Amino acid sequence: MDDLAARQQRENSKGGILVTGAAGFIGSSLLREAADRSVTAVGFDNLSNGKARNIPLSNPRVKFVEGDVRDAEAIRKAVADHRPSAIIHLAALVSVPRSIDDPDLNFSLNLDGTHQVLEAARIGGIKRVVFASSAAVYGNTATLPISEDSPTRPLSPYGAAKLAGENLLCAYANSYGISATALRFFNVFGPRQDPTSPYSGVISIFADRLAAGEPLTVYGDGRQTRDFVSVGDVARCLADAAEIVDPGFRVVNVCTGRATSVCELIDALGEVVGRRPEVRFEPSRGGDIQDSVGSVTALEKLLGWSPSTSVSDGLRQLFREQVFAV
Ligand code: NAD
Ligand code: UD1
Repeated sequence: MDDLAARQQRENSKGGILVTGAAGFIGSSLLREAADRSVTAVGFDNLSNGKARNIPLSNPRVKFVEGDVRDAEAIRKAVADHRPSAIIHLAALVSVPRSIDDPDLNFSLNLDGTHQVLEAARIGGIKRVVFASSAAVYGNTATLPISEDSPTRPLSPYGAAKLAGENLLCAYANSYGISATALRFFNVFGPRQDPTSPYSGVISIFADRLAAGEPLTVYGDGRQTRDFVSVGDVARCLADAAEIVDPGFRVVNVCTGRATSVCELIDALGEVVGRRPEVRFEPSRGGDIQDSVGSVTALEKLLGWSPSTSVSDGLRQLFREQVFAV
């Protein structure tokens, strides 16, 4: 590649991003990460779960469009109006048990929604797409840590829709010369994860209950494990992945490679708040994976780094910045 071509490729790899699901937990961290990198970011969200206050609109590089990703006209217009260099698709129904209670809504949001975003990318000539997939695509695996080559046998409609979304992404990459990256997030935690619904992530629910002096509910025996990855690290992965210009499809885990059981998580929370939390046990939830811990090898190869924030450090930061701060 000559100097001019290399310079053009570098220039091409910059430019603004359009983030669906931007008013949510991960999206709002990504907008902050983009702004820190001096990248223009347009958030697109129907505010069904996310909050307008999560969008850092005081930053002049951040813009917001309210709309539904299933509304073909709305998402195509947002792309045409803002001409981003990359689309980062995060908007989704995010709860495994909710997908079991309402599979129709799950497939509407997570499959049709993803299809409409890819159509908007194709029609708008956008050559880079990053998709928020999930460790839920694997189901229960025979070997740990889980690598990208492990079999994918989803236990829930949510996992099935994420896997189908990856396949759509792969097909669009191959058919239309898009650089497409599916990031399989493990269990993300940190500030702005909404704790108010029973469908929320376990750390946000436990932190909220502890702050209110209420007991924690553990589903099952608490020995199930998760790979908890901090939202700041996830936002950095997303921003880095949005800069990949090579056409083609790739899928990588976003995780730390460290397993924490629900009981160990409660011990770590107890250390942060300085008292032993009161705990109640209830039966396991349907579709609940027993053990989930990912391999970081492919991510390190792709980005040159992998998330390293420990659960204890992440919890201390969460309590300092959000829970104790209110
Ligand atoms: P979130 O619920 O906080 O954010 C999702 C956002 O999408 C919300 O702001 C919501 O209002 C918006 N949204 C939902 N339906 C929409 C629609 N039809 N049109 C436009 N916007 C819509 O969830 P999150 O935890 O930030 O998750 C972001 C993405 O990461 C999701 O795709 C989720 O499946 C994926 N993911 C999350 C985790 C995790 O641990 N949080 C793990 C794996 C994958
Ligand atoms: C989470 C994400 C999902 C993501 C997946 C990737 C949310 C809401 N879900 O699903 O989007 O794709 O990680 O791995 O962010 N638990 C309790 N008590 C509670 C709540 C939960 O014991 O009050 C247990 C659950 O039964 C489960 C574990 O904690 O065993 C984690 O649950 P949860 O935070 O809902 O995450 P996942 O279902 O793993």
